[in-house]
Amino acid sequence: IKRVAVLTSGGDAPGMNAAIRAVVRTATFEGIEVVGVRRGFSGLHRGELHLLGARDVANTIQRGGTILLTARSHTWRTPEGRERGARHLREWNVDGLIVIGGDGSFHGGHFLQQEHGVPVIGVPGTIDNDLYGTDHTIGYFTAVETALDAVDKLRDTGASHERIFVIEVMGRHAGHIALDVAVAGGAEEVFIPEDGKPVSDAIAAVKDSVAKGKLGSIIIVAEGYPGGAQAVADAIQAETGYETRVSILGHIQRGGSPVSSDRILASRLGEASVYALMEGRSNVMVGRGAGGITYTPLQETWEKRKDVSRDLYRCAKTLSV
Ligand code: F6P
Repeated sequence: IKRVAVLTSGGDAPGMNAAIRAVVRTATFEGIEVVGVRRGFSGLHRGELHLLGARDVANTIQRGGTILLTARSHTWRTPEGRERGARHLREWNVDGLIVIGGDGSFHGGHFLQQEHGVPVIGVPGTIDNDLYGTDHTIGYFTAVETALDAVDKLRDTGASHERIFVIEVMGRHAGHIALDVAVAGGAEEVFIPEDGKPVSDAIAAVKDSVAKGKLGSIIIVAEGYPGGAQAVADAIQAETGYETRVSILGHIQRGGSPVSSDRILASRLGEASVYALMEGRSNVMVGRGAGGITYTPLQETWEKRKDVSRDLYRCAKTLSV
């Protein structure tokens, strides 16, 4: 292969720049040219392509966001949009496309490959860590650190006022961030979408912690839990009368300089994505598991479910005694 294209798509994640850098530098090392696509699949169907050299990605490994910009494209969901994108790739003599993103982005790459035969490699980039086929996704570690920093600060004020803090972390359909933050932040309870735990469990938990003489309580709720943090807080306030505050951390979890684990993961997977194309692989996501680099068919990454760590779930409960 002589030329590959790279884009970032969907929600940005800290470490995406490190992944772009790894793609560009690995390709350059192997004598392959790189075309950067701006604004994800939106930019691809509009023809926003440009050559990217090794020096263009200098000073980016530590930067949050994505230098290629990103978008959630509606046009790409139409065959006409994908046809236009495939045409631009042909015009630019691109031999393969590397898609850095989450499940929505992998859907986009999968259809491009199926309909137009473009070799596509996925690189998992999402803070949600909800892709089957890799232990972790790029951005996840940083998001957990950011959320944890906020939880520690909220704990200070919560304990001083002897209040209940119900804190919502991101995770549209997944509780990975919530579970890690609950254990690392010493939370009393955690609510995640993967579990049908009723909000009444929160009432029991705060009553219990007040009875044990705890000064404040921290409850972590994943965004995807029905009703989110507000539903949990409303139930606590209504049933116990304890002073309760809600804090929704939101998009702050998507920004910031990537922590070392994300930079290293992004560097390894960016590198692996170029070698995957050189080896003739297509329609797979490169991931990292216990044995090293893994290759998972794109479709499996969203069709199979990556379970949350049940051990962590239990641990959070045990340690809140
Ligand atoms: O997929 C990552 C994520 O941050 C989810 O946790 C969240 O539900 C969603 O993106 C938010 O999307 P948007 O940036 O479009 O509001």
